[in-house]
Amino acid sequence: MKIIIINGPNLNLLGKRENDIYGNETFNDFFEKLQEKYVEVELSHFQSNIEGELIDKIQEVGYSFDGIILNAAAYTHTSVAIADAVRAIKTPVIEVHISNTFSREDYRHKSYISPNAKGVIIGFGLQSYELALQSLAP
Ligand code: DQA
Repeated sequence: MKIIIINGPNLNLLGKRENDIYGNETFNDFFEKLQEKYVEVELSHFQSNIEGELIDKIQEVGYSFDGIILNAAAYTHTSVAIADAVRAIKTPVIEVHISNTFSREDYRHKSYISPNAKGVIIGFGLQSYELALQSLAP
């Protein structure tokens, strides 16, 4: 099973960024543990701060991979272009967020991704990614 985690802007700063909201762990440390735990899954990770690069990656994997776990970060709330890419592809997309976006500012309540996602997992810290993985690779 080929599954990719795609992370959007500023998620490269996990561990350093707003620790009260996003925790203290770096994504790489978390990702290594996830790979060790789910050895049967061919799990990869891509992060970019650039909208077009996220779209390129979604298009690249979106007809061959078994699942995409997407945290588009702030682009979730703004990007019609990423939403269109999610709609265009065949691979199921699970939208995830580390924080509970509904308990935060109003502008974080809107997601352009959700209507085209297979499912949405919000607010469980980094565990949100693992829950998404479990939904794709039970
Ligand atoms: C986030 C929530 C977004 O509102 C925010 O812009 C992020 C991270 C989350 O995982 O909680 O960068 O997607």
